[in-house]
Amino acid sequence: MEINGTAALAEEEVFVNEKANGMVEDVCDVEANNWSKPGPAAFDFRSDVTTTPTSRMLSAIASTTLLDDDFRQDTTTLDLESWIAELAGKEAGLLVLSGTMGNQLSIRTHLQCPPHGVLCDRRAHVVTHEAGGVASLSGALAVPVEPAANGRYLTLEDLQGKAVVGPGLHVTDCPTRLVSLEIPLGGVVLPLAECRRISRWARDRGLAMHLDGARLWEAVAAGAGSLRDYCACFDSVSLCFSKGLGAPIGSMIVGGLAFRERARWIRKSIGGGLRQAGVVSAAARVAVKDTFLGGKLEGSHRRARDIARLWEGLGGKTVYPVETNMVWLDLGPTGLSEEDFVKYGERFGLKLMGARLVVHYQIGNEAVQRLKSLMQAVLGRTE
Ligand SMILES: Cc1ncc(COP(=O)(O)O)c(C=O)c1O
Repeated sequence: MEINGTAALAEEEVFVNEKANGMVEDVCDVEANNWSKPGPAAFDFRSDVTTTPTSRMLSAIASTTLLDDDFRQDTTTLDLESWIAELAGKEAGLLVLSGTMGNQLSIRTHLQCPPHGVLCDRRAHVVTHEAGGVASLSGALAVPVEPAANGRYLTLEDLQGKAVVGPGLHVTDCPTRLVSLEIPLGGVVLPLAECRRISRWARDRGLAMHLDGARLWEAVAAGAGSLRDYCACFDSVSLCFSKGLGAPIGSMIVGGLAFRERARWIRKSIGGGLRQAGVVSAAARVAVKDTFLGGKLEGSHRRARDIARLWEGLGGKTVYPVETNMVWLDLGPTGLSEEDFVKYGERFGLKLMGARLVVHYQIGNEAVQRLKSLMQAVLGRTE
């Protein structure tokens, strides 16, 4: 094509020429950019979702396949789905954009005909932080259950107390069809033995089992059981790449083939079918390899325990035992509200969200030193 007598170059050609002339930099050649350092995440205890993606992820994105995943052509995505399914001991995986999408899609996939109820911990993300999706997307009654037996995690007896199952069902009842668990929940791990008890009981009654395993990696890194052992208790599991593993985007739901096919259909209906999905899955693969298989989560757990010891050494108490990467401080003795504590943190250059400290692999010594100074200040001691 001629424009004003000049041959218009294809965009790609222009880029190649500009690169040869040094006019543009190849992002992967840049040594220091936002991808190559933890940045603000190094002082951010609000959540592990704030971890900064790495330059290795950027390189993987730069060299990923760019084919259409709705057409099932993108091999980077298909390979990731098979690999994560294999790690979890399930038949199939499906890439989704977020943990919320993974949970809600799974629940919608299991629940086919109202009336139906979903049992879950009253603190579970699916009921407290997913915008009412269980009701709006699945038309289901979410039944929040108190972990009454131990105050830390649900037991079979807690669930039995709320389940609506069995031959005595009345027309006014909303039958339980699904048990949705979360492991870890607030950093606390539901022990594998209890999980197996619950699963056996549910399956004997024809109830589906879903796991919000956004951070199941952490439970595995803590030695609570293998990915396969936990996943075997469930019909579907949602696993996040963008929390402590540090990927920029993405989660995977795993389950049986029929589950995956139906979930794929529903994913499309809510706009979750992706085209060049390799840009998401390439980084996710690096996150699993480098952070989970690379043993970085164990380091965060050690640091979390150190932080709890610091607090306790100054006379503070924790609300839950530190089993993975979260430390729950009891602010009672400080006399501070959560809001005040957050403001205090800002003085030390720390980002906090209430009294829960989330430790991820980008939290380093400097952040822990600042935290120690903050703790000394709020507990009124300077050693
Ligand atoms: C336990 C749990 N499940 C699910 C989610 C949802 O993940 P997303 O923010 O990717 O939707 C979160 C988010 O922090 C979470 O903590």
